[in-house]
Amino acid sequence: MRVCVIGAGYVGTVTGACLAHIGNDVIGLELDSAKTAKLSAGELPFVEPDCQELLEQGLASGRLRFTTVPDEALSDAEVIFVCVGTPLTESGEASTDALREAALSIAPHLRGDNEKIIITKSTVPVGSGDWVTMLIEDDLSGRNDQNKQVKSGSPDTKSAANFSVVSNPEFLREGCAVEDFLYPDRIVLGSSSATAINKVIDLYRPIIEQDFTSSCPAIAKIPVLTTTLESAELIKYAANAFLATKISFINEIAQICERVGGDIEQVAEGIGLDRRIGSSFLNAGIGWGGSCFRKDIVALKHTAEEYGYTPTMLDATLEVNDIARATVIRKLQDELKILKGKRIGLMGLSFKPLTDDLRDAPSLTLINRLHNSGARVTVFDPVVTDIGEYNDLARFASNMEELASGADALVLVTEWPEFCVQDWKQIAKVMRHPLIIDGRNALPRQEILDAGLQYVGIGR
Ligand code: UDX
Repeated sequence: MRVCVIGAGYVGTVTGACLAHIGNDVIGLELDSAKTAKLSAGELPFVEPDCQELLEQGLASGRLRFTTVPDEALSDAEVIFVCVGTPLTESGEASTDALREAALSIAPHLRGDNEKIIITKSTVPVGSGDWVTMLIEDDLSGRNDQNKQVKSGSPDTKSAANFSVVSNPEFLREGCAVEDFLYPDRIVLGSSSATAINKVIDLYRPIIEQDFTSSCPAIAKIPVLTTTLESAELIKYAANAFLATKISFINEIAQICERVGGDIEQVAEGIGLDRRIGSSFLNAGIGWGGSCFRKDIVALKHTAEEYGYTPTMLDATLEVNDIARATVIRKLQDELKILKGKRIGLMGLSFKPLTDDLRDAPSLTLINRLHNSGARVTVFDPVVTDIGEYNDLARFASNMEELASGADALVLVTEWPEFCVQDWKQIAKVMRHPLIIDGRNALPRQEILDAGLQYVGIGR
């Protein structure tokens, strides 16, 4: 099909590249001309394994291209994905400004005979699908008034606006977004139009049937859940809120383990063996970060409160996550006492491995807290070399040896694989004080102890 993807961020670029990979003609519409130029030159503006290969493949085959010109991207698109950002506003609401801009840029291209499908893939506040419909119909009826003095609400506005909106939330994890797109656990489609749902099912058929050329062994067909717009929009928020709650839950149990002598790794394994609980997302540590969890939980909380409900559990999920980050500071104080003047090395900056994304990264919270306590912070990350306004609060090391040299403590913040295979004896030699705090319970504890270093984990 002829597809337009509005927004070339993490979600839009992966969506466009994967849809081209399964045989569609895709135009990415990105107003940031620098980003569009980079993508057209085959350069990804972010780190995402496998996406680089699909970008090059799509450009080479001619099935994927990018533009800043709405007319070029929208005029003959059959399906239009909206992958724009919905960042949090001051009031804790998800901003829908970009969504409004996208809807109004689409409106003039909806007059043809063929129904166009507008797919909201970004995480949008519940009710956004109907809101987009209203925006477009109002815009078109306004345009009609200018041209034909048509009374508002007349059938002309309906015929002028030949489109349907489908909510198709993304469940992409950074660092494995391509895998999550091509081999999803499920596809969720919400709309009041059955024909629109069927058209999107046709678009996704190669993924549903798992019959595109891929190296992945054939797996079962992908379940497709069709529902209303509101339910589809809520599924996205509820999924992220649950995943974050699961992590905050195990981090709460970790706090209890530390006080009564349990080992959180054993406890997590023990509860995870119950199929109803499952072992994933039970890794205790410094807590969750990223562009979605906090944003989506705060937005869902705002919606709940707006409609008269106090979301106690959502509040707790946020609070326990803040406690998890503060725990690492407490452990440093327990071991080093006064932090003023102490040299602390942070291993990892990105919010999780295999990405360069710093959004709501625990590392930034630690840098701020340690700087404010007068500690000297040095940081090292395999891909991140710039932390924006935090650059003034920390010194960058170019490797682990430099990070450890003269340090009073090293803190594992992001469990990059390379951090788990170190020459701990050499590290012990160059540190000023032999303290390793494992903020992800990912380091080889016995090896570290054998090297004469002190090991402090989370919940164990
Ligand atoms: C998440 C959701 O998983 C994804 O479905 C949604 O579309 C976007 O948000 P992402 O934020 O990319 O994906 O990363 P994810 O792998 O979910 O990890 C989120 C955070 O939780 C990271 O900071 C990670 O370090 C942390 N985490 C994850 C834990 O602390 N413990 C765990 O067991 C798992």
